[in-house]
Amino acid sequence: MPLLELTPDEVLSTTRAVRRRLDLTRPVEREMVEECLRLAQQAPTAGFAQNWHFVVVTDADARAGLGELWRRSGERYLGARGVGGGGGGGNPIVASVRHLLEHIHEVPLHLIPCVEGRTDGKPAWQQASRWASIIPAAWSFMLAARARGLGTAWTTFHLAFEREAAEIVGIPYDEVMQVALIPVAYSIGTDFKPGPRRPLKTFVHWDRW
Ligand SMILES: Cc1cc2nc3c(=O)[nH]c(=O)nc-3n(C[C@H](O)[C@H](O)[C@H](O)COP(=O)(O)O)c2cc1C
Repeated sequence: MPLLELTPDEVLSTTRAVRRRLDLTRPVEREMVEECLRLAQQAPTAGFAQNWHFVVVTDADARAGLGELWRRSGERYLGARGVGGGGGGGNPIVASVRHLLEHIHEVPLHLIPCVEGRTDGKPAWQQASRWASIIPAAWSFMLAARARGLGTAWTTFHLAFEREAAEIVGIPYDEVMQVALIPVAYSIGTDFKPGPRRPLKTFVHWDRW
């Protein structure tokens, strides 16, 4: 599949959370997803366990069901922050989230990265090792997707209803944790810019905190 003309640094600095610029009319080819997943597979896992799974959701009914859960949780999230009930209140991120709330079921494909073994109630170090056995791979997928003209966004709204989501796509909830729901579509245009970030000195600690 053709790559955009982007340097590695450009891919790393312009892989944005794409919500408003997802092309809802253009299907994403299976080969494209598989190519990105083969790259994602090169990410590390604790103990070389490779205990990851990726559920690729294209079925319209499943996308509608997951979209309903995503929307319910997203509305609750925005409501709790005083920006529920329509519009963006002038905040571009809220407007962008609201746009995706209204169109989530129309996104042609969702990727649900999962990891084997639930860590509910386990010590933090065990949780960290388990989550970090899937998150680098999922982010690699998003970088590979960006390099090919696809837009993605890391989202977790649906996890408020993880068990219901598991039932929709047949994930064995008791043995497998979902980590995100990544909407995937061709992006409308490919010109993304680095996002606003704080200066290094505000969060980097050399030798001591
Ligand atoms: C752990 C995590 C959970 C997130 N959950 C959601 C979500 O449920 N819905 C959503 O629209 N964006 C979600 N985001 C995306 C962030 O809001 C996004 O990264 C942020 O807006 C920065 O955007 P940028 O990449 O364009 O700078 C999540 C990101 C992370 C890392």
